[in-house]
Amino acid sequence: MSGRYDHAKWSLLPAKPGITDISVMFEEAQYFAPVATREDGSVVVELAASHPGVADPVYRERRNAIAALALNHTPGDPVPAVAYTEREHEVWALVARELAVKHRRYAATEYLRGCERLGLPSGRIPQLQEVGDLLAPLTGFRYLPAAGLVPLRDFYGVLADGLFYSTQYIRHHSVPFYTPEPDVLHEVLGHANALASDRFARLYRLAGAAARRVRTEEALEFVSKVFWFTLEFGVLAEDGEDRAYGAGILSSYGEIEEFRGMDIRPLDLAVMGTTTYDITKYQNVLFRAESLAHLEDVVGGFWESCDEETIARLLADSTVKQGQAGVISR
Ligand SMILES: [Fe+2]
Repeated sequence: MSGRYDHAKWSLLPAKPGITDISVMFEEAQYFAPVATREDGSVVVELAASHPGVADPVYRERRNAIAALALNHTPGDPVPAVAYTEREHEVWALVARELAVKHRRYAATEYLRGCERLGLPSGRIPQLQEVGDLLAPLTGFRYLPAAGLVPLRDFYGVLADGLFYSTQYIRHHSVPFYTPEPDVLHEVLGHANALASDRFARLYRLAGAAARRVRTEEALEFVSKVFWFTLEFGVLAEDGEDRAYGAGILSSYGEIEEFRGMDIRPLDLAVMGTTTYDITKYQNVLFRAESLAHLEDVVGGFWESCDEETIARLLADSTVKQGQAGVISR
């Protein structure tokens, strides 16, 4: 499985209508669900054999219907509302309640401030339109619906415009604390609470501007990996302990309890931009900023001005570091 496809898993969305070669997609990317439109116009989400909902025809039909909403969305129109079932709302309520308890212990203060500012509902799944209506007065961000995988350049690029691509489905009710793919709990509880912070929202926008600025696929992958190890899985030091601000940790019931025991390294652009990771397991290598200001200086400063040359220098630097350490990270 290539690094690009690994990373693409969490960068969801708008799959293009039209049958794609699903068998090939499965080999290269097992952990997001390919979406296809059949000749009769029906939309099909292909779940992997190990997906908790694969044998549940009701869930499969829900996934197809929700993906069709996103595929039929016209940019500029309100985000289509999903008629969530009571069972789906119950999954949200259960996970949101449990995560809120863990956030008080493990989340960075700035993220907790974002939770307070945003005021997401705890007992039901909010519509993406509603999330945008709450966010826009705070930081200008709005949500876009995504049916499946979104190409890296699109997913990151629209961040510069204050737009965030998001899935709308929720995980299968049989395993409410597990999902093999990013669902609305991850997209909204993890990301929207951060996007309600002026400081984090600025970093998201800078990442988007960087993704648009760089021309080569290699540089784009570097930018996206720095995003992965910060806004998805970053931690920062607060009052002598590690606190998470990354959406991937903060939306994972299990990972949030484990991250402090992982291999936590100093913030280092050259290393973050070239370190590979396995999306099927908890992230065992994390990077710590010494403060939010430190993150803004190092990572925000990088995204603000990086280009192919900057990134080529960092890639050369990472090769030297790997040689010194005797390890190969990519
Ligand atoms: Fe994410």
